[in-house]
Amino acid sequence: MPARPLDRIVGAVCLAALIVTSTAAGVRSTEAGADAAALASYDDAVVVLADARTDADLASAELDDTRADAANAADAAAAALDVVDPELLDDTATVEALEAARDELATADEVIDGYLAETASDPDDDLGAAPDTRDEHASAAVRLIVRAGVLDTAAGTMRDFDASLASLTVAVETATRELAASAHAHGTATDAPELAGDEATDAYTAAVEALYGVAASDLAPALTAYQDAWADAVSAHEAAEEEAARAAAEASAPPPAANTSDGVQPTYIRGILVVNKTYGLPSWYGNGLTAETVNAFERMRAEAAASGLDLYISSGFRSYATQASIYNRYVANEGVAAADRHSARPGHSEHQTGLTIDLNTITTAFGYTAEGRWVAANAHRFGFIVRYPEHKEAVTGYVWEPWHLRYLGVGVAGDVYASGLTLEEYLGITSAYQ
Ligand code: DAL
Ligand code: ZN
Repeated sequence: MPARPLDRIVGAVCLAALIVTSTAAGVRSTEAGADAAALASYDDAVVVLADARTDADLASAELDDTRADAANAADAAAAALDVVDPELLDDTATVEALEAARDELATADEVIDGYLAETASDPDDDLGAAPDTRDEHASAAVRLIVRAGVLDTAAGTMRDFDASLASLTVAVETATRELAASAHAHGTATDAPELAGDEATDAYTAAVEALYGVAASDLAPALTAYQDAWADAVSAHEAAEEEAARAAAEASAPPPAANTSDGVQPTYIRGILVVNKTYGLPSWYGNGLTAETVNAFERMRAEAAASGLDLYISSGFRSYATQASIYNRYVANEGVAAADRHSARPGHSEHQTGLTIDLNTITTAFGYTAEGRWVAANAHRFGFIVRYPEHKEAVTGYVWEPWHLRYLGVGVAGDVYASGLTLEEYLGITSAYQ
């Protein structure tokens, strides 16, 4: 870095001031001597200004480089924050830390933007016509030196910005690494579900390992791959479980009593088919998803896909018998009380209506994905509601199921969504087994 030209500025200003003062006081040495001194001070000021300009340009270039590094770090952080699923982290504080570091960096960069916009409108180094007379030399020297001082201050300010931006960039990079380490630690400590199968388990293990020491710029895709691999492993596990339960039910369990729900009739309230713990369906009811449900899902899927989101149906129509085997398996594993919180008894599942679909991964993690958030905010536009919202178990009878959508048609779904109520509250009904 070139020496700051302050010492030369001070010397030249003193010289120029001396000449001006001497002239004003009428103290005359030889005319030629005064001319030569004025010219020398002017020449010196030209050099000082050129040095100051070079130094300011250098400081500006250094700041540009640091800003480019800061932008890269901020982009990588934003991409990672955009996709991260806090449920799959060892320490969710790493998300807040990265957000805070990223925000601080953005604020500093805005301040620099403001400063640069302001200084860009400064007068440039064209400080007037070339001087001719002694007085013009002397006063031009003063102007040049003042201008050099302005540039010197600007260079100092830019270097201060540069140093603080560089340290904020390091903070963002460190916080980004910590987020990656937290995801890696969570993955390392969490085995793939036991029935996930070799392929899904291996893919999950590989995705976890890929998080170790990942470059900041690769963190977002690595996080996405890790989270997707976990979701795939969970799906594979659930599919295997369901298959095993189905096979076991077919092989040994007594079929659900044929007359379990004999005499029960479908219930319509304000034209809406209602199925919950209070209202059931006869065992014969239903034979697949209705065409309007499938069409509405297809419209929703296409719009989500246009935004880069992937929606798919992981469970659609379920017959009375299928629901019986699913529910019975849960009861065998965890008991009636726990099973009743998330699984409907046969004859009481909305899946039997043909108007209900489960999307993507059947885990609460889905609610935190970009897809889950989009569905919560947009499904009503296609005629669906998220049927079992968070914190509404006392009303709906079920824990949060961000993946479970009920088709009501666009009008009713829009009304229910706008009301902020569950379907039970909207219709003024209960959901409780008799
Ligand atoms: N999981 C929902 C409540 C069902 O079993 O239909
Ligand atoms: Zn469901």
